[in-house]
Amino acid sequence: MLKGKTILLGVSGSIAAYKTASLASALKKQGADVHVLMTRNAVHFINPITFESLTGNKCLVDTFDRNFEFNVEHVALAKRADVVMVAPASANVIGKIAHGIADDMLTTTVMACKCRKLISPAMNTNMFENPVVQDNLKILADYGWQVIRPAVGYLACGDTGAGKMPEPEVLLDYILQEAEYEKDMAGLSVLVTAGPTEEALDPVRYITNHSTGRMGYAIARVCARRGAEVTLVTGPTVLDPPRFTEVVRVKSAAEMFREVTGRAPLQDIIIKAAAVADYRPKQVSAEKIKKKEGEAGDLSVLELERTADILAYLGEHKRPGQFLCGFAMETENLLENARRKLQKKHLDMIAANSLRIDGAGFGGDTNVVTLITAEEEVSLGKMSKEETAAKMLDKILALRRQHRDTEGGENSLK
Ligand code: CTP
Repeated sequence: MLKGKTILLGVSGSIAAYKTASLASALKKQGADVHVLMTRNAVHFINPITFESLTGNKCLVDTFDRNFEFNVEHVALAKRADVVMVAPASANVIGKIAHGIADDMLTTTVMACKCRKLISPAMNTNMFENPVVQDNLKILADYGWQVIRPAVGYLACGDTGAGKMPEPEVLLDYILQEAEYEKDMAGLSVLVTAGPTEEALDPVRYITNHSTGRMGYAIARVCARRGAEVTLVTGPTVLDPPRFTEVVRVKSAAEMFREVTGRAPLQDIIIKAAAVADYRPKQVSAEKIKKKEGEAGDLSVLELERTADILAYLGEHKRPGQFLCGFAMETENLLENARRKLQKKHLDMIAANSLRIDGAGFGGDTNVVTLITAEEEVSLGKMSKEETAAKMLDKILALRRQHRDTEGGENSLK
């Protein structure tokens, strides 16, 4: 959520301006105070009243509008801003900002902004690829602007190529990445696993479970928004991978084992939210297994063998100062089973959730988790998976701090 945050949206003359209306609305729904600044040309594409209705704030176009409450509005807004995003940014506005020209409300305001600045170019492919525009974008990047790469696709001019402004959800993600959380995980490397695994039986069939990956994806997303370097090792899911993370896709428990253990030594924190299969078929048939003629009843027996326990391996090979967190999904004796896993796998924390509790478990937007460590148990109550993730990370950071204080070990914890 963006409660208490001030977001400035700069809109310049491009047909993509209509998408910024959805972005303004989405930001408002996140609780942000949204102010829209438009160039004179932008007003030909979308009416300022649209933005005023969506944000509840006056849409600013002219630096010398006599109806302002105070005449240095652009400076006042620039001071309050947590993030400024120019979207869509025309070749003209990119050129002006890159060369310090401030001749309207948008360009004077961004000139006075000290906060994080993002720019989303939107124009015809030939214009975008023109070396002048590319050079100007490089200049902006050198001045600390984050340039959002335009999408490739069908453009309003009829051409197909790079130059399309990304969809509002994508731009919202960029703003949330900047402004939703304090960057209290900056400098930390975190590996998260998510989703189910698939254990092949033949080229057609596999054994899996109901995990959707949502909890793990939420953890990875929140870690990234808090500034961590995140690797997400994920089994097959239908979810969009969280932006600003390195995503490694796997299918089987054996592949997950390889990808996780290979990266583990470099991690400060490992959170294993994946529902890894405990068994896989002993034989994987190269061809589709056919029914036998005349077969009836339960004649077929599927032979299974154990998969390697990734978390147990990580617990055994944990390097000093590394924080290891597992999940326990249970249908009975939740806390006892979770406590046993905490000990057996040498974990620092385990997040216990029960399939029997309303609002917890596979799928769904919420979870009900109890965080268990050697010293304490904290029930988080029912909350969204994102909130659950944020609370888990608060706890992990607090435990790391506590550990550092008691051990006095700069060498053991970052
Ligand atoms: N896990 C793992 N590798 C496996 C199996 C599980 O890393 N082969 C991890 C999961 O990612 C999760 C935790 O271990 O963090 C779950 O512990 P586990 O004891 O395996 O739970 P269950 O699979 O539910 O086991 P059981 O059948 O004993 O309840």
